[in-house]
Amino acid sequence: MGRNPSRRLARETRSKTERPLAAVVLAAGEGTRMKSRTAKVLHRAAGRSLVEHVVDSVLRAGAEPVVVVVGAQADAVERHLRDALPDTDLRFASQPERLGTADAVLRARRALGAERGRGRFTGDVLIVCGDVPALPASALRALVSKHRGGDAALSVLTAIVDDPRGYGRIVRGEGGGIRAIVEHGDASPAERKIHEVNSGTYCAGWPELLAALDKVKPDNTQGELYLTDAVRLLLGSGSRVNAVVHPDPEELVGVNTRRDLGSVGRTINRRTLCRLMDAGVTVIDPETTWVDVTVRVGRDSILHPGVTLEGRTKLGSGCVVRSGVRLHGVSAGRDVEFLDHTVATDSVVGDGAKIGPFAHLRPATVVGPECKVGNFVETKKTTLGRGSKASHLSYLGDAVLGSGVNVGAGTITCNYDGVRKHETRMGDGVFIGSDTQLVAPVRLGKGAYVAAGTTVTKDVPPGSLAISRASQRNIEGWVERRRNKSKKENG
Ligand code: UD1
Ligand code: CA
Repeated sequence: MGRNPSRRLARETRSKTERPLAAVVLAAGEGTRMKSRTAKVLHRAAGRSLVEHVVDSVLRAGAEPVVVVVGAQADAVERHLRDALPDTDLRFASQPERLGTADAVLRARRALGAERGRGRFTGDVLIVCGDVPALPASALRALVSKHRGGDAALSVLTAIVDDPRGYGRIVRGEGGGIRAIVEHGDASPAERKIHEVNSGTYCAGWPELLAALDKVKPDNTQGELYLTDAVRLLLGSGSRVNAVVHPDPEELVGVNTRRDLGSVGRTINRRTLCRLMDAGVTVIDPETTWVDVTVRVGRDSILHPGVTLEGRTKLGSGCVVRSGVRLHGVSAGRDVEFLDHTVATDSVVGDGAKIGPFAHLRPATVVGPECKVGNFVETKKTTLGRGSKASHLSYLGDAVLGSGVNVGAGTITCNYDGVRKHETRMGDGVFIGSDTQLVAPVRLGKGAYVAAGTTVTKDVPPGSLAISRASQRNIEGWVERRRNKSKKENG
């Protein structure tokens, strides 16, 4: 995350404002409705876990430290986040029993308190649910600035939705100010008709919020300690509470089911594609193009329908990615063409190279500039120097090719002897005839030729021809003699 420029910017902005900002991410729920052995917040959408999306947004809104309240599969959630965000001040608080959202927030007290030898945290906190992955940093920044501008003890982010079922309703008073948040199960028929709902995202002064939450009682239909009761309690003690309406309710969707997971994935994807298009990338069919949030694409690149770009894939400018291509962790230069149905993983491709159709670049493939890797060619841990070509039907594994090498159709590196992998090396300008087996370890010197159909088992010196096949014999009249013979036999 130290690599992320918007993170750095957020940090710098924050250091200029006097009041510190921390975040508490609620992620202790089990997510029973996902019907999964994986903790809900570890499910993935658009290339990241749900909780990593949320933590990334709060960080980009300038909040740090981030306290994650964990319960279900706490160790797995903690391990995952520490791995994903190594240079972040992440703290974990455990909520052993699911007593409600107020209890969950109170569990973060120690992580932001004096017990760890730090001064007690007295700034503002952003409170976010770990299962709201489409929530953008910009919405959080707006919430914080309205919170501070409005001099409130607590501000809640709300949305106006068509179907408010299941959500806490925002009850407003005569003057339009918020009076309370009433949970669906506790709401009166009139309150249930309210379409403004609580997104579960808040900004609050930490000491004021803790004082209010200490007074929350579980006197509601679910018998839980509701964080939302803080609204009534703070108003009762004369503090100000703000409700800030977010214009795009889709971005506030919390994931409870696999259906929700599908729809937040689509929301995030649509946003990523808009960002790419705004930056000069052509996306021919946004409905069928899937790009992880971690991907970068240079301007004037074209993504055809049915393309999937994953992980840390990075394409330079002017690249063309044809239908059915999936790239994961691929770094490509400028003007690279990936033709239809190519699959590439953790590989590097140089400027102007042409890959596919139907090529398979497996991890640690390095394709030099102006190279060609054609149909039904598979590569693994293999480097091709500038301008080298493997145009058809080949397997290149554990191989190092110089520049200008021509690999004929049906060439196979026999890299595995059943126990170990061995290397094949080809110097610049090597020419391999079709249907060749290269039994590794083996080296072909600069400019060497291999005759078609050869099994190469020994090194080939530079400039030599290797040929290993039985010499051809032509038997004249054989076909006619055979025909006559079979006529006689059949009477
Ligand atoms: C909550 C809000 C509701 C709001 C909705 C938005 C309360 C009482 N209600 O309801 O007003 O409209 O979110 O999605 O806050 N969690 C814990 N520990 C707990 C309980 C919950 O960590 O003891 C976490 C969950 O993992 C989840 C978040 O808090 O990330 C929200 O909990 P959830 O049970 O989904 O609350 P809702 O009933 O949906
Ligand atoms: Ca929920």
